[in-house]
Amino acid sequence: MRTSQILALVAALPSTFAAYKGFNYGSTGRDQAAFEGEFNSAKNLAGSSYTSARLYTMIQDGTTNTPISAIPAAINTGTTLLLGLWASGGDAGFANELAALNAAISQYGSAFGDLVAGISVGSEDIYRITPIGVENNSGAGVGPGVIQNYISQVRSAIAGTALAGKPVGHVDTYNVWTNSSQNALIGSCDFLGVDAYPYYETTKANSIANANATFWDDYDVTVAASQGKPVWITETGWPVSGPSSGQAVASVDNAKTYYDDVACHAFANDINTWWYILQDTGASPSFGLVGAGTPPPTTPLYSLSC
Ligand SMILES: *[C@@H]1O[C@H](CO)[C@@H](O)[C@H](O)[C@H]1NC(C)=O
Ligand SMILES: *[C@@H]1O[C@H](CO)[C@@H](O)[C@H](O)[C@H]1NC(C)=O
Ligand SMILES: *[C@@H]1O[C@H](CO)[C@@H](O)[C@H](O)[C@H]1NC(C)=O
Repeated sequence: MRTSQILALVAALPSTFAAYKGFNYGSTGRDQAAFEGEFNSAKNLAGSSYTSARLYTMIQDGTTNTPISAIPAAINTGTTLLLGLWASGGDAGFANELAALNAAISQYGSAFGDLVAGISVGSEDIYRITPIGVENNSGAGVGPGVIQNYISQVRSAIAGTALAGKPVGHVDTYNVWTNSSQNALIGSCDFLGVDAYPYYETTKANSIANANATFWDDYDVTVAASQGKPVWITETGWPVSGPSSGQAVASVDNAKTYYDDVACHAFANDINTWWYILQDTGASPSFGLVGAGTPPPTTPLYSLSC
């Protein structure tokens, strides 16, 4: 091969290894058609295509351990998946998450495996039992030892299957990752997912003017604690409406500023990112990029072009 051909190939690499770019998706009240509607709207959003979905559970809403219908929806729409297993529902609840994962592997095989970006064992479980999580009534959580045990159960479950070798990790808040009590857990993870919302960081000067710097500080301290593991952005965003939080004002203008600064910088740096959120009709504060409608509209509330 000639040097010019090799250089052309190297130049083509960044697009080959483009980072995952997606949204977080809840499970409540959604069937396959609802997931497909959301995934198609995300893909066809004016100004920016989102082709990945982060999930919080493997279990279809209203069932004991039937695989979540986001999986066939992802297969039908070519959407990659950051899977989640809910880890704060006790050992019996986690066994159901594993049963749903095993069933999904049997049912969908490599069509499923080909779309899996990674597997998160838990979401903010440790944050919820830290002093600020308890103060905020954030619900049941578990400590790092339980997450490590569940991670090893997931590694055993996927060994020798269509999901073999997929990265297994955990999602938590930046201030959990920087607590040295998590060092052993970090050692067990293939990746760290970080959730950080300057809007909620009321102990800091958290106006929109400081939000970009605050977010990247949160990201950088997580990277510093990560023992060299990749750090993925699993949740962030700024609300378009709702109450103020400290100096943070919820507005479409501020959400656009935050998006231009934080999302565009993450995309430019090829950091895997699952933004919060495509649509959250009725929520307050509301972080949705689009307004009400089923399927979600494809015209965002502000321009998403970077
Ligand atoms: C640090 O992590 C440990 C173990 O999860 C937890 O008990 C403790 O409350 C955390 N400290 C803070 C300040 O969040
Ligand atoms: C938790 O609650 C405190 C006090 O109400 C508040 O200042 C802080 O922003 C909250 N943190 C989160 C992450 O919600
Ligand atoms: C946002 O922060 C990043 C990381 O520090 C920086 O590179 C970028 O220039 C900032 N963007 C703006 C608009 O200040």
